[in-house]
Amino acid sequence: MTIELSMLVPHVPSICHEDQVPEFQKDMVSAMKDVSKEIYRLKPDAIVLVSCHWPSTFFHYVDCTPEHNGILTAIEAPDLIKDVPYHYPGDPDLADELVKAGQDAGLQVQGVNDPYYVWDYGSVVPLRYLVPQEDIPVINLSVTLAASLEETYKWGQVIAKVLRKSDKKIVFVSSGALSHNLVRGRHNKPTVAEHALDKQFVEFVMNKDYQAAYNMLPEYARMAKVESGGRHLAMLFSMVEEGSEPAYLADGQSSGSWNALITFGNKQVAHKEANVEREYVK
Ligand SMILES: [Fe+2]
Repeated sequence: MTIELSMLVPHVPSICHEDQVPEFQKDMVSAMKDVSKEIYRLKPDAIVLVSCHWPSTFFHYVDCTPEHNGILTAIEAPDLIKDVPYHYPGDPDLADELVKAGQDAGLQVQGVNDPYYVWDYGSVVPLRYLVPQEDIPVINLSVTLAASLEETYKWGQVIAKVLRKSDKKIVFVSSGALSHNLVRGRHNKPTVAEHALDKQFVEFVMNKDYQAAYNMLPEYARMAKVESGGRHLAMLFSMVEEGSEPAYLADGQSSGSWNALITFGNKQVAHKEANVEREYVK
């Protein structure tokens, strides 16, 4: 049917539990809760989510599991994300279609159907805010380290084609940061040079010059250490519909990374605190 809404979402570990969110990250949480209302208004049949914290080495994996049920303690931050339960339906039929389409396109794609596979926090954290009732089927995708940005974009195009041909309404979620040159101290922002690249990237996006934003990804990723080498952004660009409206809803730092919530829809998603004079244009 359509990809009703696409988005870049943050997943910084310190927002996992709403009562523990630092002040400078609260806006991201508030905006994700607003986006959740939009998701429930759209009533999608499935959410397709690519997570920077499912880094696969060689294959593009698709989580075809019919029921995602587990308890997550994050390997990277077991103090912040510990024993977090999740239980979402999957969509094995659509997931199998994605696998087949990828393989038919000559890509190294494999399906995963394993009730013991435990989700990563890049999947769990944003979904806690976006789909708090755990009642919309989810298909997760890995970011594949052996795949270039171009191959990831191509895989995204294959996915987008299947989603548009299906009779289902889809929301696509890209879970990851912009600049990501991590340092100790959660309050730290990216360096001025790294953040200059963030601002240029976001400016292209907000001007709907998605081609220019995509074209800067290789150098942006190298110089500002964009999370997953920018693969989640390359895949996002393959989903964004021609003419869709970007909305920059919130942002914030986390240990030297820059994180933004940006949606792409048929109309702008409203966020009560949204302000185009936000950080990225300062
Ligand atoms: Fe991350």
